[in-house]
Amino acid sequence: MGVKLGILGLGTVGTGTVQLLQDKAGRHPLLQEIEIYRVGVRSLDKHRTVELSTEVLTTDLESIVNDPAVDIVVEVMGGLEPARSLILKALSNGKHVVTANKAAIARFGAEIFTTANQAGVYVMLEAAVGGGIPVIQPLKQSLSVNRIHTVTGIVNGTTNYILTRMQTEGSNFSDVLADAQRLGYAEADPTADVDGLDAADKIAILASLSFGGRINLQDVYTEGIRQVSKTDIAYAEKLGFVIKLLAIAKRDTPSSPLSVRVHPTLVPQAHPLASINGVYNAILVEGEPIGQVMFFGPGAGAGATASAVTSDILNLVAVLKTNTAVANPLIACGHQEYCQIAPMAELRTRFYARFLTNDQPGVIGKLGTCFGNYGVSLESIVQTGFQGELAEIVVVTHDVREGNFRQALAEIRDLSAIESIPSLLRVL
Ligand SMILES: NC(=O)c1ccc[n+]([C@@H]2O[C@H](COP(=O)([O-])OP(=O)(O)OC[C@H]3O[C@@H](n4cnc5c(N)ncnc54)[C@H](OP(=O)(O)O)[C@@H]3O)[C@@H](O)[C@H]2O)c1
Repeated sequence: MGVKLGILGLGTVGTGTVQLLQDKAGRHPLLQEIEIYRVGVRSLDKHRTVELSTEVLTTDLESIVNDPAVDIVVEVMGGLEPARSLILKALSNGKHVVTANKAAIARFGAEIFTTANQAGVYVMLEAAVGGGIPVIQPLKQSLSVNRIHTVTGIVNGTTNYILTRMQTEGSNFSDVLADAQRLGYAEADPTADVDGLDAADKIAILASLSFGGRINLQDVYTEGIRQVSKTDIAYAEKLGFVIKLLAIAKRDTPSSPLSVRVHPTLVPQAHPLASINGVYNAILVEGEPIGQVMFFGPGAGAGATASAVTSDILNLVAVLKTNTAVANPLIACGHQEYCQIAPMAELRTRFYARFLTNDQPGVIGKLGTCFGNYGVSLESIVQTGFQGELAEIVVVTHDVREGNFRQALAEIRDLSAIESIPSLLRVL
């Protein structure tokens, strides 16, 4: 029997998730088990970019979390209420919950997880921090045996976009903010982003997972980027730094208190976080014995966030299936057949080739003709100098089919002017 989803919200993330779930080819086979059973929205009249039958869409979100047929509730509506109450009700009714809602988790996490534990169900929140970047699951599982010292994140795309543009253009905060709002990179009310509140929600969640305790959001020191001036950015650059809004959680020893904070910070230009620009997010985890691990990727957006939401859904499907199956399908090897691997001749790539030729007139023309015979177009062809008596010619192609390139080379090797082809490399 399929696993029935009740999805609360069909905005950016909800739509991305439905699109992913409706397009299963080439993805994990466990997706076949999932049925989009109900989707709750505010308005039934709104135009939707995904096709759902009329009995799936409803404005009665309570009916979804109370429906005994629903196995997993996916909360992607955002906001504090009614999201909090609906999550609590779903959990009390014995349903697993997936949420992307960092604001609700950072504020009501204690209540939500206590309710989940009492009901014997899970709350999954991969999308709540870093959008599509897998960081929650690695902290919970892959890195969990490490003694974590520090988690340092660029976890708010809007502020990173603004700071990056201030730095590259030498512009003021207010001018870049206005432009970011016009382009849709910043909200009409930018408070949660530019004052560091969104980053504070996220570092509270990361700190909780990394250091194994609940975090009071009020204890997170939070300073935004409104005060960062273009003068500071210019001076920082002269001194070898970039200014980033960092969310930091740190503990010196297992018995010392935590430091959890969000503030603009001068970051040395050689530091791994210094090169994270634009709307991208990154989270650097430092622990013992692992050392440093950095997670980097798109911190928001429909597809990226849907990837995180759906991976959580899949984990829960695996949990539900494990009750009846022999092995957890996400841990066991589920493949029986070999993948088909494309032959190298079918690869499309650019090539760099270096030829040593007898110094005869017209060699470059002959090379060009041979390549042209096989549809290999050249990005550049230059005579770079001499190696003793021999002229050296370097060629870089456009993207070509490797098989065609090899055929052209075979013809070129037979040219009397060609002495040897000492280098042949693929170009990214
Ligand atoms: N956008 C991102 O890239 C991103 C990334 C990471 C995490 N998140 C988190 O994901 C969540 C959703 O964000 P989003 O950008 O997808 O939001 P959104 O585009 O504003 O969509 C919200 C959806 O929820 C529905 N909704 C909201 N309040 C409702 C209510 N009271 N009753 C019924 N339906 C209601 C809306 O219905 P209508 O369509 O009828 O208006 C809409 O479909 C938030 O917690 C956000 O922080 C978002």
